Amino acid sequence: MSVPVITLDGPSGSGKGTVGRAVAERLGWHFLDSGALYRVLGLAALRHGVALDDEATLATLAQDLDVTFQGERVILEGEDVSGAIRSEEAGAAASKVAALPAVRQALLARQRAFRRLPGLVADGRDMGTVVFPDAPLKVFLEASAEERARRRHAQLKAQGHDVNLDQIVADIRARDRRDRERAVAPLKPAEDAVVIDTTELAPEAVIEEILDLAKARGLAGS
Ligand code: DC
Repeated sequence: MSVPVITLDGPSGSGKGTVGRAVAERLGWHFLDSGALYRVLGLAALRHGVALDDEATLATLAQDLDVTFQGERVILEGEDVSGAIRSEEAGAAASKVAALPAVRQALLARQRAFRRLPGLVADGRDMGTVVFPDAPLKVFLEASAEERARRRHAQLKAQGHDVNLDQIVADIRARDRRDRERAVAPLKPAEDAVVIDTTELAPEAVIEEILDLAKARGLAGS
């Protein structure tokens, strides 16, 4: 039997990260934060002075990237960059390099290498459509742009940032458009994905729903 995978795709702020980590933990499975890979690559490009539209060099950089994941810690070339990859700058660089087909291709094998026993929860935008198309359970999380902005706003405020909610709503709408309309691996549910709208749901309810789905498909112990 192949190693089971639960894919968890959706826009930023849909709760994928929180929910995905918790589901992986409850099942005792591995977890892939594919967005972190794109962020590390964006950061590495900035640090090495590689232009964010130099597709061939970026693909080589992606191929050779010296990155390891230790739980929630991300190590790039021996340095802990867990905080640095969450900056706006790294996020913006990630979204640019993620639009390049050769870069996505170069990261495919690296992402698939996370598929190890007893199983994998993979979080991203194209986990169910491109990276693990044979996954036995695919989930797509939705939430209204307003709710996702509210979550992001609360998070930033808790970190001591002074931010404007209307600006965040506008940013989220712009990023959604970019992610959904890009030519390669656009953000969309796989045809066989279960779509869950998390707008009115607490994370725990979403986690339970996914665990129930996993059980119903024989992926999780009882
Ligand atoms: O989920 P995130 O915000 O950490 O993702 C960072 C960027 O990487 C985001 O602009 C979308 C892109 N990304 C992608 O194109 N494909 C993935 N599987 C994951 C992230």
